[in-house]
Amino acid sequence: MRILSGIQPSGALHLGNYFGMMRPAIELQEKGEALYFIADYHSMTSLFDAEQRRKNTLDVALDFLACGLDPKKSIFFKQSDVPEVTELSWLLSTLTPMSLLEKGHSFKDKSAKGIPVNHGLFAYPVLMAADILIYDSNIVPVGRDQKQHVEMTRDIAIKFNEQYGRTFVIPEPQIRDEVALVPGTDGQKMSKSYGNTIEIFGDEKALRKKIMGIQMDSRQPAEPKPDAEKNLAVQLLKLIASTKVGTDFENRLRAGGLGYGDLKKALFENYWNYFADARAKRAELSANLDYVNSVLADGATKARALAQKVLKRARKNCGLE
Ligand code: ADP
Ligand code: TRP
Repeated sequence: MRILSGIQPSGALHLGNYFGMMRPAIELQEKGEALYFIADYHSMTSLFDAEQRRKNTLDVALDFLACGLDPKKSIFFKQSDVPEVTELSWLLSTLTPMSLLEKGHSFKDKSAKGIPVNHGLFAYPVLMAADILIYDSNIVPVGRDQKQHVEMTRDIAIKFNEQYGRTFVIPEPQIRDEVALVPGTDGQKMSKSYGNTIEIFGDEKALRKKIMGIQMDSRQPAEPKPDAEKNLAVQLLKLIASTKVGTDFENRLRAGGLGYGDLKKALFENYWNYFADARAKRAELSANLDYVNSVLADGATKARALAQKVLKRARKNCGLE
């Protein structure tokens, strides 16, 4: 079984990325042949600062390795080190209906907000399809917001197979229900673009302030809260703490007597402990960038060999060879 996922180098890793995509991906490296990459080509659709891209790319590499990606078990690489995906993206684009891309939410959301959209953003799902198909991937672990992209990939692959004969493996998205949509500090989906994130790595004081600043309602501590399971801090605590601790706080809030301040303090402490090992590992890796770069270079060599085979199959089947 081949497992593949990618993440854009578009800013600091947050709890949504971690629980929605990174942790499931890391767990899956035990279950099959896993390929994980940093989607630097994709980041070009909305980040236009070269230095920032370089920095973010290194940050994602450090984040992923610190959180447990094991280069002995997974192939870890930079998307643009396998330029074959851009060629495959072209082949796929010729069978991708405009109407399919017009439904794409990343493009639709941005144009609805009046943000100028470029062709790369419009064609984003085609490049993503190439990323997935070029490695004969079976399973794509992602958060719920990426489901549509994986469905588009399936549509495009089926079309290509129908037109040119069996070429691609049809992939399946894998979305964990319990972490499909991690809420941010304002209750909406946690996302870099909404400014409601809780980062995994960063300054302790600033992160404590963010968590203590999560907005709550004005009910008094003594009041019972029958809707305790909807409380944002409870929801986040349940992701981070043991089931026992999570349900204990939920029950105390429901019964009345637990103040929101104490709840948020518990959230911060559990969160800070949860990532203590990853934080130490990240500091160690930051002092050893040669190692990090060698992991990516080695991953690129392995990924490229796999990609070249599938691209050749596609080129043959569509008559380029
Ligand atoms: P952002 O919305 O912050 O820009 P990305 O789009 O870069 O995040 O997402 C990277 C990965 O993390 C994707 O697989 C995505 O589905 C997952 N992800 C992002 N935010 C969340 C969230 N709030 N809940 C669950 N998964 C998420
Ligand atoms: N679009 C994904 C995101 O923003 C990143 C990505 C690019 C990806 N190519 C992929 C994810 C292929 C899974 C498979 O999060």
